[in-house]
Amino acid sequence: MKKSKIIGTGMYVPPYKLTNQDLEKMVDTSNEWIISRTGIEERRICKDEETTDIAFNAAVMAIKNAGIKAEEIDMIIMATITSENLTPSGACEVQKKLGAINATAFDINAACSGFIYGLTIADSFICSGGAKNVLVVGAEVLSKIVDWKDRNTCVLFGDGAGAALLTQSESEGIMGYVTKSNGDKGEYLKCASRQLNEDNSILNNKFVTMNGKEVFKFATKAMVDSVEEVLKKSNTKIEDIKYIIPHQANKRIIEFAASKLNLPLEKFYINLNLYGNTSSASIPIALSEVVEKAMVKKGDKIILVGFGGGLTYGCILIEW
Ligand code: UT7
Repeated sequence: MKKSKIIGTGMYVPPYKLTNQDLEKMVDTSNEWIISRTGIEERRICKDEETTDIAFNAAVMAIKNAGIKAEEIDMIIMATITSENLTPSGACEVQKKLGAINATAFDINAACSGFIYGLTIADSFICSGGAKNVLVVGAEVLSKIVDWKDRNTCVLFGDGAGAALLTQSESEGIMGYVTKSNGDKGEYLKCASRQLNEDNSILNNKFVTMNGKEVFKFATKAMVDSVEEVLKKSNTKIEDIKYIIPHQANKRIIEFAASKLNLPLEKFYINLNLYGNTSSASIPIALSEVVEKAMVKKGDKIILVGFGGGLTYGCILIEW
């Protein structure tokens, strides 16, 4: 039976760092509060770059690492909630910039679970023979939809992009996945569409609002339940997992899940101290760093797990 496997990863974050000390000058907050409640120390913010620019940069790195040409890509799936336009999609813009002339390109919206959902779509197309090489990108310029006067949300988010190139495999690759949505809880994390003038200036901006406590409860349960379910589905023991790469929302969520799963925190890759929560980009950025640091080798089993707006969640087990 055919499988899909990741053969290249990439990431890009904008150079400008916004530190907790910078935020202390913008809203009534403190470095101590942000670190103790979230683990975040700084985040990157786009100054001139748009979502599709940073998506393109991450995609270029993934394609280079995969060792294929842009024309060999059959499909581009971009997970984002902050693309410049409703149409053309972010994926079509990335296709244009890459010159990936043979690709079918489309966006998906599953907020912070978007990259996981994208990988499962890629896996389905590859396993059914509908596509051979699929590029999945998670990219967000969340700074566009953050209310910089709201201390409840503005300290949490950052901008960035990550990407993975998947291809057919006869043996290793994606071993199993779980995805679910709880639309009835959607009101806990919301952002309405914003309206632009003809010249792209903002007519009516809309910002992210969140019931942090409810999302926290949802996130911890989603992480634990989906990891347990994916292990069961793929007939794998938790001891056989080398690393879990979680969505980077809050260090306390990861600590809680680690203790419920009876795992040391060292099993979880954490970089949220540097980038904050970059929504759909957080997992592919973390995965790209894990690969760049040579932390995984052939045969290792890893888990990617995400949760977020919708509400949505999902988990994937990969044999590298
Ligand atoms: O990727 C999407 C998924 N999103 C998430 O996973 C987020 C999940 N939720 C969380 O991570 C946490 O709920 C937060 C980090 C958002 C908030 O942490 P918390 O421990 O739940 O704090 P809280 O909302 O209960 O607020 C505690 C206090 C409040 O003050 P009072 O009412 O106790 O006087 C807040 O007003 O902290 C206050 N507060 C702040 N103080 C300083 C809220 N934000 C800040 C801030 N700086 N930035």
